[in-house]
Amino acid sequence: MARVLGSLLLVAAAGAFTAGAAPAPPAKAGPLGRVVPAPASVTPGGSAYRLTRDAAIRVPDSGEGRRIGTQLADILRPSTGYALPVTSHGHRSGIQLRLKSGPFGTEGYRLVSGRGGVTITAARPAGLFHGVQTLRQLLPAAVEKDSVQPGPWLVAGGTIVDTPRYAYRGAMLDVSRHFFTVEQVKRYIDQLALYKINQLHLHLSDDQGWRIAVNSWPRLTTYGGSTEVGGGKGGYYTKADYQEIVRYAASRYLEVVPEIDMPGHTNAALASYADLNCDGVAPPLYTGTEVGFSSLCVGKEITYDFVDDVIRELAAITPGRYLHIGGDEAHSTSHEDYVGFMDRVQPIVAKYGKTVIGWHQLTGAHPAKGAIAQYWGLDDTDAAEKAQVVKAAQNGTGLILSPADRIYLDMKYTEDTPLGQDWAGLVDVKRAYDWDPGSYLPGAPASAIRGVEAPLWTETIVTDADIDYMAFPRLAGAAELGWSPAATHDWDAYKVRLAAQGPRWEALGIGYYRSPQVPWPAK
Ligand code: ACM
Repeated sequence: MARVLGSLLLVAAAGAFTAGAAPAPPAKAGPLGRVVPAPASVTPGGSAYRLTRDAAIRVPDSGEGRRIGTQLADILRPSTGYALPVTSHGHRSGIQLRLKSGPFGTEGYRLVSGRGGVTITAARPAGLFHGVQTLRQLLPAAVEKDSVQPGPWLVAGGTIVDTPRYAYRGAMLDVSRHFFTVEQVKRYIDQLALYKINQLHLHLSDDQGWRIAVNSWPRLTTYGGSTEVGGGKGGYYTKADYQEIVRYAASRYLEVVPEIDMPGHTNAALASYADLNCDGVAPPLYTGTEVGFSSLCVGKEITYDFVDDVIRELAAITPGRYLHIGGDEAHSTSHEDYVGFMDRVQPIVAKYGKTVIGWHQLTGAHPAKGAIAQYWGLDDTDAAEKAQVVKAAQNGTGLILSPADRIYLDMKYTEDTPLGQDWAGLVDVKRAYDWDPGSYLPGAPASAIRGVEAPLWTETIVTDADIDYMAFPRLAGAAELGWSPAATHDWDAYKVRLAAQGPRWEALGIGYYRSPQVPWPAK
């Protein structure tokens, strides 16, 4: 009842209530800075731009700028009902995308909005793409719908100049514990791109399933990929499937970071090939959720032939810079064996032209020159373990921050969250947002911090709806920590910008968790 009354009051306040007719939304643009992640600089002022039926999207003659304009048109046409031609000619008012050298870096952009139109300028296509994501958020949420909406389509006047704080802004999807199809991964990529995330880390192998085709070891997928947590049928990506994910991600300016976790988390491989086991006996497939019980046989030469083949084939279909070799929770590998294994495996990654990323346990071995460690500890992780990571950073190892009690998207929000885990604690929206990557590991040089990544482990996550519920709204906070300057960090301001994303998620069909910490508009 209170909610009904609330919406009646809102409608009355908008002065648009006529019995029986849908109320017209107020003809006022949202504030220019109401964007997630917060832009580096926002200067509101001047008239709003109103997107109208006769508008065009002006783009560079060819290439990526034109493609980005077409992507924008594909988003705007269904909801506005306008033709929005994408053109390099003519002087019609509308939206203009320009590639032009300037102080924007590879990912930054400038957006200027006024009565005559909106112009987004960037030095590189990635910057134009990110500017387009900002423009989407400046338009009313209904612009994301796939049927014609009434508008009006207003963008507040002023200038945004924006560039990211960190170059690495990632999200990880565990496709091993439960398998997710190419279409499901593409859907997640679209969600990530809206928040300017630029790295998609795919956790492609674990005890429960091997998910990427390796021609020289075919049973990895045909047998090792044949199940998942709970005993479902699993699945795997052919090389063509994987390349399609890579292509789709690249078209949204995300780089794919493939992970083959080793020497632990390898039961699916050990089950597929008896020779990989020290005792020559293949264990059964595993569909539970324990960790730490499997290890490649560090003392056998065939192990390194195997690793070489896998990395060679995976590197060959990965245009991105990185190859993630896991290295976490190797509880069934002695420390000495772990160090020896990593000493042999890291040069294989380099041989195939890739940069090593490993979970932060790699810092307990000898991280290769240029390697990056992904920190997944907790606020109260043992000081000695943190000190080891900090020391490695001081010695040149890069860091990606994924503190599990802040940014693991599979942690429950509250005790009542129906999905997820709680081994790192309960992580509601404020806790997920309210930390600073720059000062999180005191003593780590600022230059070592490459960025942040929000992993989504999928022991309990099975469907798109499950992904949506755990990732939203926390993913937006992770994106903001990666992109926005530290000076913009403020929970009270953030929660208002975040709340404005709710209707957008509804328009996009994303079923998010309506945390009581966030002042969502009434549905
Ligand atoms: C991890 O959560 N085991 C990296």
